[in-house]
Amino acid sequence: MGSNILITGAAGYLGGSLVADFLASNSTQFRKENITAAVRSEEQAKTLSKLGINVLQLDLTDEKVVVESLLLSIVIHCASSLDERLALHLITALGKQREVRGEETYFIHTSGLSAFYESTGWPPGETKDTGPVFDLEKQLADSFPIRKTDVAVIEHAKARGVTSFIVIPPTVYGKGTGEWNKLSVVLPVCVQASISNKVVYKFPENIKVSGVHISDLTALYGSIIEKILQKETIPSGPEGYYFALAHDLIWWEVLDHLAAALKARNLVVDSKTQIWPSDEAAAKSLGVPVQFVQLLWNSGENIISENTRRLGWKPAWSKDRFLQNIDDEIEAVLDLGKAKSSLIDSLFESAKG
Ligand SMILES: NC(=O)c1ccc[n+]([C@@H]2O[C@H](COP(=O)([O-])OP(=O)(O)OC[C@H]3O[C@@H](n4cnc5c(N)ncnc54)[C@H](OP(=O)(O)O)[C@@H]3O)[C@@H](O)[C@H]2O)c1
Repeated sequence: MGSNILITGAAGYLGGSLVADFLASNSTQFRKENITAAVRSEEQAKTLSKLGINVLQLDLTDEKVVVESLLLSIVIHCASSLDERLALHLITALGKQREVRGEETYFIHTSGLSAFYESTGWPPGETKDTGPVFDLEKQLADSFPIRKTDVAVIEHAKARGVTSFIVIPPTVYGKGTGEWNKLSVVLPVCVQASISNKVVYKFPENIKVSGVHISDLTALYGSIIEKILQKETIPSGPEGYYFALAHDLIWWEVLDHLAAALKARNLVVDSKTQIWPSDEAAAKSLGVPVQFVQLLWNSGENIISENTRRLGWKPAWSKDRFLQNIDDEIEAVLDLGKAKSSLIDSLFESAKG
C-alpha cells in the first residue's frame, strides 16, 4: 500500500503543522506526492499548493463531494471534533475505497480532552486509556458533542470496515509550522486578553491540566502512521484511544510565568496575577461564549495514558521547558495577531444550538 494520506483542516493550526512537519521529516513515507491536504477556501488552496503537495478544496459537510473526491487509504481528520457529520462522510468514503480497491483503510480522528473533564459530565476519578473508555463515552455520549462524535466515529468505522484511532490532544502550545493558521487557542487567547487588559487574570481554583507542544503532537500522529504502514497491529476501534498528554500544567504556575514574561516586555502593569471578577468578564475579555470559559481555562482531567507510551512516543517538551520558553507564546501572538481560523466562531455556533 502506498502512503496516500489525506490531512483535513490542513489550513488549520494542527492540520497545517502535520503537513509541514511530515514534509520536513524527509521520511520516504511522507513524500510530497503521497500527501493530500484538504482545505476550505480557494486562498488556502493556493497557499498550500505552493508546497508541491496535492490539495483538495472542499467543504467536508458535503457528503457527495467528499465521497467522490476521496481516493485515498489513510485520513488524519483535524477539521472538527464537534461536528460528527464531517468525520462520518470521510469514513463512508474510506469504506467505499476499501470495497473498490480491496485494501485496508484507516481513519485517525482528532478529538478533544474536554470530553473527559468532570465539568462536562465525565465521572470523577482516574480513567485509563486501556480501560473501558469507549463504553463510558457511549453511555455519556448525549451529554457532550465531542463524546458523541468519538462514539459515532468508532461505530461508523466498524460498520464500514475502516480501522479507526482517536487522538486526544490536551492544551496544545507552540507556534504552528503550517502555511495558514499558526496559532492554537487556549494560550494565545489568554495572552491577547492579558495584553489588552494589561493584567493577567486567573480563576480562584488552581487547576492541573495537561499540555503538549505542537511538535510532539505531530510526532505522535507520525508514530501511528508508521505503525499502519509497517502493518503492525496497534490498539484501534473501541480500544484505540491515544491521549497525547506530554506533561502536567498547573494553571497558576503558567499564569505567574506569563505575567512575569509580559511584565518584562512592559505589556502588563504588574507581574502579579489577579482573579477574574466573574465568568462574564472573563468571557468578554477572552472572546468566547460564557459557557466555554470554565471548560477551556478552568477544567482538568485525570487520565492515565498508556497507549501512547506503548507506541514509543517520547515527548521532547516537559513542563519546565514550556515554562522556561513561555515568552515564545507571547512572541507568536505579537507576530501573528489573532488565529486565522473559524474555531472560535464554531464555539459561538455550538453555544447557540
Ligand atoms: N488547538 C488545540 O489546542 C486543540 C486541543 C484539543 C483538540 N483540538 C482539536 O483539533 C482540531 C484542530 O484544531 P486546530 O487548533 O488546528 O483548529 P483550526 O486551526 O481552527 O483548524 C481547523 C481547520 O478545519 C477547517 N474546517 C472546519 N470546518 C470545515 C469544513 N466543514 N470543511 C472543510 N474544512 C473545515 C477550518 O477551516 P477555516 O480555516 O475555513 O476555518 C480550519 O482550517 C479541532 O477539532 C480541535 O477541536 C485542538
